[in-house]
Amino acid sequence: MRRKLVVGNWKMNGTLASNAALLADIKAGYSNLACDVAVCVPAPYFAQCQSLLLGTPIAFGGQDVSIHDTGAYTGEVAASMLQDFGCKYVIVGHSERRAYHAEGNDLVAQKAVKALKAGLVPIACLGETLEDREAGRTTEVVGQQMSAILSVTAPEDMEKIVIAYEPVWAIGTGKTATPQMAQEVHAMIRSMLCAKNAELASRVQILYGGSMKPNNAKELMAMSDIDGGLVGGAALNATDFIAITQAA
Ligand code: PGA
Repeated sequence: MRRKLVVGNWKMNGTLASNAALLADIKAGYSNLACDVAVCVPAPYFAQCQSLLLGTPIAFGGQDVSIHDTGAYTGEVAASMLQDFGCKYVIVGHSERRAYHAEGNDLVAQKAVKALKAGLVPIACLGETLEDREAGRTTEVVGQQMSAILSVTAPEDMEKIVIAYEPVWAIGTGKTATPQMAQEVHAMIRSMLCAKNAELASRVQILYGGSMKPNNAKELMAMSDIDGGLVGGAALNATDFIAITQAA
């Protein structure tokens, strides 16, 4: 049985004061976490998370990483810097990076490799647009995104990666894939992992993301290949976020 993982993606939200309040409420609200929990926060708040989450089972991470190690790359953040602050995870290839920063499959795969090399767990995001889905291209698009990652991942690194299936049309829209729709894609992703190494594939956590809320989290996470959630909007509210972790 795979352990479930619930990750809050704060996106570009927060202030020192609001983060402190949110983390205090999360810390006060959880008890006996039955799943892994993390928050992925804007880079300026790594130090705050490092100090406020010390001694708790809640991990934290970043939302993007550079493919470069160091040097003249203004504005970028290196994997070693995330590691320096105690990040465990880093999201790579979120659809907002793909859409607004033209990140393609190969770049996303390189970012996953950079994260792995620095000892971080990449949360690699895959997902089709509404246009892709309506044109019947979901399997093709998600398959290509997954292949790019598999092509650069050593078999022994496979179980160190988390995959997040996030249909773009479900992100921040209130529209959720039905549990069956999501399970179908998760099973396809798992079968691609299995083709590389069946034993390790059975251990990879595949998260669902896209309008996951307390009222749909349980049903989604009850599906056999849905191992948790990547939660955006609902992760900014401690009560909702805790309820989602409890549904896992
Ligand atoms: P959402 O975002 O839960 O607000 O839909 C999920 C994500 O983009 O990771």
